Amino acid sequence: MKDFEYTAIRLHNNTLFVLDQRQLPQKEVWLKIHHPNDMCECILNLSVRGAPLIAVAAACTLSLFAKEKTLSLGEIAKSLKATRPTAVNLTKAIDDLMSGGQSNPDPEELERKAEHLIQQEINMCESIAQQGVSLIEKGSSILTHCNTGKLATPGIGTAMGMIYKAHSEGKNIHVYVTETRPLLQGARLTAWELKKAGIPYTLICDSMAGALMPSGKVQQVLVGADRIARNGDLANKIGTYSLAVQARYHQVPFHSAAPMSTVDLSCEKGSDIPIEQRPISEIEGVHQHFSSLSWAPKNDQKFNPAFDVTPASLVSSFILDTGIYKSEEIKSL
Ligand code: MRU
Repeated sequence: MKDFEYTAIRLHNNTLFVLDQRQLPQKEVWLKIHHPNDMCECILNLSVRGAPLIAVAAACTLSLFAKEKTLSLGEIAKSLKATRPTAVNLTKAIDDLMSGGQSNPDPEELERKAEHLIQQEINMCESIAQQGVSLIEKGSSILTHCNTGKLATPGIGTAMGMIYKAHSEGKNIHVYVTETRPLLQGARLTAWELKKAGIPYTLICDSMAGALMPSGKVQQVLVGADRIARNGDLANKIGTYSLAVQARYHQVPFHSAAPMSTVDLSCEKGSDIPIEQRPISEIEGVHQHFSSLSWAPKNDQKFNPAFDVTPASLVSSFILDTGIYKSEEIKSL
């Protein structure tokens, strides 16, 4: 593959590196991928995250290690797919690369497909921003959740891409960022991106969104998606559903921005989307990588869904790379 460098992934002389997102914003540390298992580990522990970026990372891993005769590509594909079940982009990308159905696909063909996928994801981010920027009024404030930007995609991002575009057009926007418990992608990553870009923002705890909305300070909620079902239900970072309910109650438009690679027409409805459950230790204290502090007594409760499902009826519109749609239009895409 040709060398490349994006915000969170880079290839240099056929060696793949990923930015360790667990260490942001304190440190910018790049991890070298020596073996496909390293990439699996990085996705599992969220060093690499965000639906489009995971897909790209998996595709690059398959392509790079295809030449190593001691490894089974089928096994690598299976392990990568199992790392994050909710985001459909990952499965789609791996299926696309392995579509020949052979156990040893042609490495050059894999390389071509991986490069094509990266370019496609970058282009889709640009198109989402072009399509969606008209929804952002001059001087308005946007509430966003989790991280959907340059750390989550190889491009400018999805919901964040629209924010970058509105800012670059001088729309004088303000962004409210939910910290995004339990792993704080909003506080650590989105705030980091916004600060770097010089976009004014206010960080809030997740539980403050309900207090913010009645004040009239938020003109829209703008989030990404990990999978959009045929009926327009969407899975996204845990906490998205609560924001959608609050937005509806306060008559604040709630939009989801995503590339077509996030739409899963083979999935009828939200309850069919597999939801990843994560270790309980993430709730008992912040992630061990950025603090060893544990503030809750250990117990045996077992509920830490990484994502939730927002019903189509709460979504004002979907901003996809191909246009802006109502939920009922998704099935005919
Ligand atoms: O667990 P994460 O940090 O990978 O969750 C990310 C999200 O939920 C994003 O909103 C989604 O992947 C879209 S990113 C363009």
